[in-house]
Amino acid sequence: MKDNLNRSINYLRISITDNCNLRCIYCMPKEGAIYHKEDEMITLDEAFTFVKIFSQLGIEKVRITGGEPLLRTGICKLVKNIRSIDSIREIGLTTNGILLPRYLDELYESGLTTLNVSLDTTDEEKYRKMTRIGNVREVIGAIKKAKEYNLKVKLNSLIIHDFNEDEIDSLVQFAIENDVILRFIELMPIGYGKTLKGFKNDDIKKKIEEKYTLKEFDDDELGSSKGPAEYYKLGDTDKLIGFISPISHCFCETCNRVRITSDGKLKECLYYEGNLDLKEELRKGTSQEELKEKIIKAVILKKKQHKFLEIGKVEDSDEKAMSMIGG
Ligand code: 5AD
Ligand code: SF4
Repeated sequence: MKDNLNRSINYLRISITDNCNLRCIYCMPKEGAIYHKEDEMITLDEAFTFVKIFSQLGIEKVRITGGEPLLRTGICKLVKNIRSIDSIREIGLTTNGILLPRYLDELYESGLTTLNVSLDTTDEEKYRKMTRIGNVREVIGAIKKAKEYNLKVKLNSLIIHDFNEDEIDSLVQFAIENDVILRFIELMPIGYGKTLKGFKNDDIKKKIEEKYTLKEFDDDELGSSKGPAEYYKLGDTDKLIGFISPISHCFCETCNRVRITSDGKLKECLYYEGNLDLKEELRKGTSQEELKEKIIKAVILKKKQHKFLEIGKVEDSDEKAMSMIGG
């Protein structure tokens, strides 16, 4: 599938719940966001149907997101079903890791290929402050266990002023010791993210360079899992460190992804309201062929780039918590 700017769309992110067992300060208020009711959310069968349709339109890589996707019963079966589609080469999951140990066996058996775990600090007290309720020991245990399964594990870290700016070094150490790829993601002014001040990746890079040399790494080895991250080799180690910089180095020009929200809306871009209600179409009996036509038309309208840097804009991402959009 191509959009009107000739970008090839081959990556689908599908959120299966807006609920979460944590309350990260940049994502939700402490009392939690207003969650979709059961019948407003897509069923996992519907999620599978969407992935099947999108795979026929050129999607080769799928990521399941939330909220916290492991809160949804039946997720391992969904992974297995998606894995059974020949043209899907990669199936990943983004999780906060709390429930992971319970599901690792089954997830591994289901054929999951990559696991992204959110971890902004390795310090118990700071983790509790940032997630309001989480225990970092559980997440650290989960990451170590996932490595035993030989799963490709990446960590996603957000660095926020006055919360975890002094955690950069210990996150790097943790990544080296546990052989995981650490990626720093710039805070986007989405929902509660607007109330905080995120670190720019250039500043994080400078900080790391006080201790290590960073050698640019542009190898095909990472293949399609490279995504928008810029990778570097860390000093003399063989460890990679990535920077995803939607704010300071906009990568919209090469964007290859679309999203489905947990209530079944297609979002061609994280920033804008989408153009197609997939769940409604499916539930009112639109045929799969018709739905394909509608998807192609909606994807063509994918906007050129986000407007996160324009203050005062009222678009979809202004009012919603990240958990409602799908991280
Ligand atoms: N900006 C960037 N990333 C965010 N996440 C949540 N809110 C934001 C935001 N405003 C990330 C979390 C997690 C993933 C699910 O989404 O860090 O890694
Ligand atoms: Fe949950 Fe992820 Fe939001 Fe944190 S960022 S509250 S883990 S959905």
